[in-house]
Amino acid sequence: MIEQLSVQHLLGIKDLTKEDIELIFRTADNFKDVINRPIKKVPSLRDITIANIFFENSTRTKLSFELAEKRLSADVVNFSASGSSVSKGETLVDTVNNILAMKVDMVVMRHPKPGAAMFLARHIKANVINAGDGTHEHPTQALLDAFSIREKLGRVEGQKVVIVGDILHSRVALSNILCLQKLGAEVMVCGPVTLIPKYMSSLGVKVEHDLKKALAWCDVANMLRIQLERQDIRYFPSLREYSMLYGLNKRLLDGIGKQLVIMHPGPINRGVEITSDIADSEHSIILNQVENGVAIRIAVLFLLAHMRGFEQSNVNKGFCKDLHLHFSRATFEKNRYMHFSLDKTEKYVVIKLHEQKLNTLIAAELKSELLLLNTQGFNNIILDLEESLYCDSSGLSAILVGNRLCRNSSGLFVITGLSDTVMKLVQISQLDQVLNLALTANDAIDFINETEEERKIEDKIEKNIKE
Ligand code: CP
Repeated sequence: MIEQLSVQHLLGIKDLTKEDIELIFRTADNFKDVINRPIKKVPSLRDITIANIFFENSTRTKLSFELAEKRLSADVVNFSASGSSVSKGETLVDTVNNILAMKVDMVVMRHPKPGAAMFLARHIKANVINAGDGTHEHPTQALLDAFSIREKLGRVEGQKVVIVGDILHSRVALSNILCLQKLGAEVMVCGPVTLIPKYMSSLGVKVEHDLKKALAWCDVANMLRIQLERQDIRYFPSLREYSMLYGLNKRLLDGIGKQLVIMHPGPINRGVEITSDIADSEHSIILNQVENGVAIRIAVLFLLAHMRGFEQSNVNKGFCKDLHLHFSRATFEKNRYMHFSLDKTEKYVVIKLHEQKLNTLIAAELKSELLLLNTQGFNNIILDLEESLYCDSSGLSAILVGNRLCRNSSGLFVITGLSDTVMKLVQISQLDQVLNLALTANDAIDFINETEEERKIEDKIEKNIKE
């Protein structure tokens, strides 16, 4: 079965299931491998155009979305409210409709008004991703925060996380609370009475006003910025007093006698909510959060675009008749080197390489596509090398990766097309691992079906013996 998100837009963590979040994490795991290799780009969103529309300032979110989109080979347009026609009175829907008239498929939007992303999603056909809507939600920040805790501590479930500071004006706080709770963590908020909304305890969150007690309770401390730009009245006497009572510093941490994981979504006000010696210490994962932001945003874009791909692929019904398969849901050109087709039972995917040479570049793309197919739950993969005459060592390594992935997921990796490449592979496979070879794609399909039948018979015999 293909794994898909339960939503078409990412408007808030509120709309995601635990399974959605775990799927995003597994996809991000695979993309982290991709963005750490020498060739960082994959062609997954080659025909998708994405508009990044920012009505509020941003450094991390804007840059990491743009980087994520470029890593996926999407076309990107950027829009900032300053310098646009918004200052001449143009409405949000009119602004976005004008951008969509330029054939944009996805919109990433940050806006100062809570609910702006939801409003937009109701009015336009493109997928909408909320990059922060006022004091409401910042879903990708919460996802990257939870992903960073999982990376640092091995799991999120059972961890005790305290979110410290300006909870009242923070979209990061609400999204974090919802995300961490869905993943089974315990959450506490800590700050001055004036900056903690009364409804917090109704969310099942512990409330503490003494930072020392909060730190003694938790495994992870997520320090938030005081959002002076959203504060219409004075919520505390002075920044100096706030920092004395709620600022994290070395003396305080040394006093609690245990090691905590320190987080901050950024931007940091050094010396206010956190001192430099703590922000830059070995216990701080602040820069890991930024790095993981790219992988998480790649995963979100990829998964939303993937659903879109399946909708659009119905248009191409029957495109791959030469393989005598009954394609229904997905038959698509992945990029100029590869052609993907999927049978209607989703039992196997056929990758046909168009290029004569399976060289380093194509091998890198093939590897990342295989990783993604594996993440998506495709067990049986047929690699059709009929048109490939040459295969260098990186090409062979890509093929062995595919073989390994299929074996790990109890699927079959079958190579078809008799050529010098395949003959060379036979020799290599004797040195390394067994490869399944077939003359044509139809033979490969027969082989997969027969193997499946044999497995069923073996299972039945085993069951009968046990009984
Ligand atoms: N964490 C965060 O949203 O940062 P930016 O405002 O710089 O995007």
